[in-house]
Parts: sequence; C-alpha cells; structure tokens
Amino acid sequence: MNEEWLIEQFKQLHRHPELGNREYRTTEFLKNILQANGIRTLETGLETGTVAVISGRDGGPVVGLRADIDALPIQEESGLDYASEIPGVMHACGHDFHTACMLGAALLLKEREYELPGTVKIIFQPAEETEFNARFLCRSGLLDDVSVFYAGHTYPWLEPGTLGIRPGPVMASVDQFLIRLKGVGGHAAHPELSVDVIPAVGSLIQSAQSIISRSVSPFDQAVLSITHVESGNTWNVIPEEAMLEGTVRSLNPEVRDRIQKRLEDLTASMESSYGCRAEIEYTRGSDAVINDAAACERAAALARSLGLNVVQQECSMSSEDFSDYLSLAPGAFIRIGTGGQCDAHQPRFTADPKALFPAARFFAELAASELEHPGSVIRR
Ligand code: NI
Repeated sequence: MNEEWLIEQFKQLHRHPELGNREYRTTEFLKNILQANGIRTLETGLETGTVAVISGRDGGPVVGLRADIDALPIQEESGLDYASEIPGVMHACGHDFHTACMLGAALLLKEREYELPGTVKIIFQPAEETEFNARFLCRSGLLDDVSVFYAGHTYPWLEPGTLGIRPGPVMASVDQFLIRLKGVGGHAAHPELSVDVIPAVGSLIQSAQSIISRSVSPFDQAVLSITHVESGNTWNVIPEEAMLEGTVRSLNPEVRDRIQKRLEDLTASMESSYGCRAEIEYTRGSDAVINDAAACERAAALARSLGLNVVQQECSMSSEDFSDYLSLAPGAFIRIGTGGQCDAHQPRFTADPKALFPAARFFAELAASELEHPGSVIRR
C-alpha cells in the first residue's frame, strides 16, 4: 500500500457517497479490500459498515480506531474532478477521508501484524450523522475488550500536516426538545372566552433563553436554540394549540442536566401562568466528547515524533457519537488539518488528499504504540 493508491481509494469513495445506513457499496468496497489483504472482519448486526480486526499476539491489549462512512444529502459544488457522481448526495463532512484514512491504517498495521503485541479493531461505522449506530456497536459486546479508542475528523481550518488535539470536552452533547401547548381556541375578538396559547409561546421562547444567561455559569458553554414554532393559520382566530422545538447543547454533563430540568420546570409553569396545558418531550442524543488527557498527551507526542504539527484543538458545539465509544474506554477525538475553502456540511467542502497518507500513518503508529507501550508517552 502506498500514498498514491490510498488517495485513489479516497477519490473512489468521494465519487460514490451514500446516505446513512445505506452505505452498501461503501461496505462492499471496504470488505473487498480488507479481505484481499487477509484482514478479518466482524459481523456487527448492522446492515452496513464493518469492524476490521488486526490481531498480533493473543492476550495483549486491544486498541479501537473509528471511522464514520456516511455522506450527506447535499448537492456537491466543489468543482473537484472527482466530485460526487450521485445527484444530491455528497461527502461534505469528510467521512470519505476518515474511511480511507482508517483503511490505510488497517493495511499499514496488517504489514506488521506479526510484531504487534495485541489487537487493533478498526470500526467503520455507518450513519454517524443520523442514527444511534455508535450506541448499538458499543452495546454489541464486540468492543468490550478495547482499552483505548481514537478517531480523527477532517478540519478545514487547519492545514494538512497539522493535528488539533485537546484534552477535556471538545464536542457538545446534543439534545432535542419538543413542547406542545394546548389551550382553548376562539374568536380573536373574544379572548376572554378562550385560553390563548400564543402569549404562552412568546413567554416560553423568552424565558428559555434566560436559562442560558441566568442558570449557566459564564465559564460554562451551552446553547439553547428554538428552531421551529407553529401555531394558528389565520388572523382572526385564536388557535387551540402550539408547538415549538429546538436543541440544547453543552460541554458539561451537569450543565446539561440543569438546562433540561429548568426547561421542564418552565414548561410546567405555563399552566399556572397562562392556563394552558404544556408538555415537553426531551430526547437525549450523544453525550459530550470528553478527551482523556493522558491519551491526548500520548497522541500529541507521537504525532510530533512523526513530524506532524500539533496545535490546541478548538471546541465545537456540534456533536459526535464518538462519545459513545468513550463511555466504554478512554480515548481521544483528534482534528486532522485538511485545509479547504469552507466549513463542513456545505456544497463546496473539500479535504486535501495530501493530508491523507500522513494521517493514516499517524493512526497506525498510534495504535501500534498503544499496544507496545500501553499508557506511556513515547518521545523519539
Ligand atoms: Ni462528521
């Protein structure tokens, strides 16, 4: 396996993006290459994705590397000569890069399998953007023996050759809420005969924002966005119902609990304040991604020893289900500088292929180093 070949595989993946849980071609593509190279894959119980296993000596530690493989429903406008050939579907979050990167790492590790004092499990996870597959894989038992997990993510604001590594929280937890209010509809001229939900909605929107400004420390990061409001359908009728929905994100689990509690209390108070019934459905998504400090130190030292530049990773209020893996074992989510012209999830998103081979080599060396010297910082 060489750099040119790996870049060609990345371009193949980029040309053929597939939406979450429909990555059939991608899965077949991966399995063909893995099997042709004598790498075993595990049945996961999911229709797409796979887990590749590179086993050195029995009884040693197990390291997990994770790539996500799904694309987004976006029409590509990157102008690349290897742009998506699938209308309306695009690898706009660099998951093709992650897939090729961990495929490269798998092949590099396979070349030295006989000398590895343990096992590396490489997870090619479907539908990172939309489903709960990380949770499913973490509950499958296949990963129970993993002692440390690593994943990488493309990052347009860093140049190729640079990694962003940071201990502690780096990506936010993501929750979703839906609030329904029910009053009594009526003629707009006779509000006294109705229970109007509209003033309740207005008050709820304002008060919800005060949770962030008044119930969260200025030193903690949290976001509450109301993104969808619906009620009524004309100018002279007081509507009977209203709904609003939105999202809560935070980097701190205690802050997350507090915001949920305050939002539930606020919803309940609509009854005494406005006389309408109010119910909230609060759904918890991924936890915050909290990087292990020791794993970050080891990864950063190893990256520098390979001639990569390491900077402090920026935190993001977007989310990542890599946090599910970190609930099984410590590890780190690492930003891979891939340059480009815009942020992820946009039609002009690109990831510079130049960054690919060094990233694959980094993850292969990191996994090998974690097996050879578990828990130690290697400075060469
Ligand atoms: Ni992504």
